[in-house]
Amino acid sequence: MQTKVVKISDPSEQKDEIGEAARLIVSGEVVAIPTETVYGLAANACDKNAVAKIFSVKGRPQDNPLIVHISELYELNFVTPEVPEYAIRLALKYWPGPLTMIFKRGPNIPPEVSAGLDTVAVRCPSHPVARAIIKAAKVPVAAPSANLSGRPSPTSAQHCMIDLDGKIPLIIDGGTSSVGVESTVLDLTKYPPRLLRPGGITPGDLKSVLGQIEIDEALYGNIDPKRPVSSPGMKYKHYAPKAPVKAFCGPPAASVREILTESPKKGDGVLCFDGCDRLFPECFVITYGEPNDYKKQASMLFDALRRFDEEGVSRIFAQCPPDDGVAFAVANRLKRASGFNVAYPASDIKVIGLTGKSGSGKSTVASVFKKNGAAVIDADLVYHELCASSDEMKRELCRRFGDVLGDNSEVDRKKLASIVFNDKEALSDLNGIAHRYVLREINKSLASLSGSGVSCAVIDAPLLFESAADKLCDVTVGIIALKPDMVNRIALRDGISGEDIRMRLNVQPDDEFYIRNCNHIVENHGSLTELSATATGLFQKIMNTGV
Ligand code: TXA
Ligand code: MG
Repeated sequence: MQTKVVKISDPSEQKDEIGEAARLIVSGEVVAIPTETVYGLAANACDKNAVAKIFSVKGRPQDNPLIVHISELYELNFVTPEVPEYAIRLALKYWPGPLTMIFKRGPNIPPEVSAGLDTVAVRCPSHPVARAIIKAAKVPVAAPSANLSGRPSPTSAQHCMIDLDGKIPLIIDGGTSSVGVESTVLDLTKYPPRLLRPGGITPGDLKSVLGQIEIDEALYGNIDPKRPVSSPGMKYKHYAPKAPVKAFCGPPAASVREILTESPKKGDGVLCFDGCDRLFPECFVITYGEPNDYKKQASMLFDALRRFDEEGVSRIFAQCPPDDGVAFAVANRLKRASGFNVAYPASDIKVIGLTGKSGSGKSTVASVFKKNGAAVIDADLVYHELCASSDEMKRELCRRFGDVLGDNSEVDRKKLASIVFNDKEALSDLNGIAHRYVLREINKSLASLSGSGVSCAVIDAPLLFESAADKLCDVTVGIIALKPDMVNRIALRDGISGEDIRMRLNVQPDDEFYIRNCNHIVENHGSLTELSATATGLFQKIMNTGV
């Protein structure tokens, strides 16, 4: 069968195309249509032969029921004889939209739609193209996600094409699905209503209307083999790309550190939050938003899982957001894609990132933290040691910058510094190489500290953010000081002239940078005693409150 792809950007202007999709559905065919959650594989819900085609095209297990899609709230009466009052309240607030409600199945819907159950799942999608097609077809439309069974759900016409080319007559391209994960499924045949699948409408949204809901145990991976599952879809491995997935929960810094302990290497895939990509230079990395940007994570998740397939990665390590708001859906899909191969980092160690300009008092603060029991990893020292001992880094530096080794066959840091001085591109290459090796050593140190009884590690790094080492830190602290004080301290410590000191300070970020990026700022504007007292207070606060 030839599969046609038709783009519809404005359903009111493209009545012919809408009509073509509707006619195929009425005539008993299946058509892939866009919705705001994921693409659906649509057929006439009242026609059991058409419904059977959905199962065969997808290779869907016969006991997994379908969702019936309607275009207006009043059409609900055609599908179910029993609509509880609170269902109307939910529908008025969240329809059209990513909420599916389960009711008693009425006689107009053949049992095949619900895989024999006496209930039926109903949703009114908000995507204008989906609604226009259902309206034009004048029948309720049964539609599962338009992927082959077990594969990640499709969020674009391209994804549908990859799974279904040659199997169906028509794919309607209505752009990328905005929500990106399937609808929330809520069983209203129980009281309190029971959440069977988290989605774009969150438990908080549902509680705001219903007061209370129950969350099915299976959503946490606790499937009791002796009990029937509430939603047959729960028991199938799902959303899975070809490579095995491992999901890493917990605070972002802890989960990323945990992924690093698995030593991901070339050929592996990593799905992580923005900025963490630089921690995995050898891997195929996809970032999917800031740790708290749950909507972006939802909208990117399935496309990312499919891109890992295209890339042919051998393992996938994924940073997982918490069971919170829309992220509950993201975490649920990721855990299921992993077959519940989920790591919850022990997080027995707090990592504090410490940064600031030269002479700001950073080392003093580090030594105060150390006195209070922290292990300090000095990034500068790590770099110096690598310059002396890492043949691998030496080779890479010489390949890029020529012979930069001194008589002792260690990297001549002064020579290197003079090469990159005033040459932005060279400096960024140097940082690219050095940060990679330094980060690797920092990770090794952190891994060896975990379980050692030390409860806090401090990464003392002037380029904490520039090197992405901040992504390893649970908390970051920036030290700022007055310029004349910094100049004096550097002169005393390094014995260099005022002009050289000013040049060094000028290429470092201003106070604003630290204030913007750090969780805490320590102002070193007073005496050493005051600085020590402030640092001790801050350390205790971080260790007591965690932030
Ligand atoms: O966002 C969505 O819901 C998308 C778009 C296309 O609307 N559809 C979708 O359908 O995700 P599907 O078939 O991939 O997932 C339907 C889920 C399955 O987990 C199924 O077991 C559950 O809903 N379900 C359907 N009818 C049910 C019923 N009567 N009782 C319990 N669970 C039901
Ligand atoms: Mg599905």
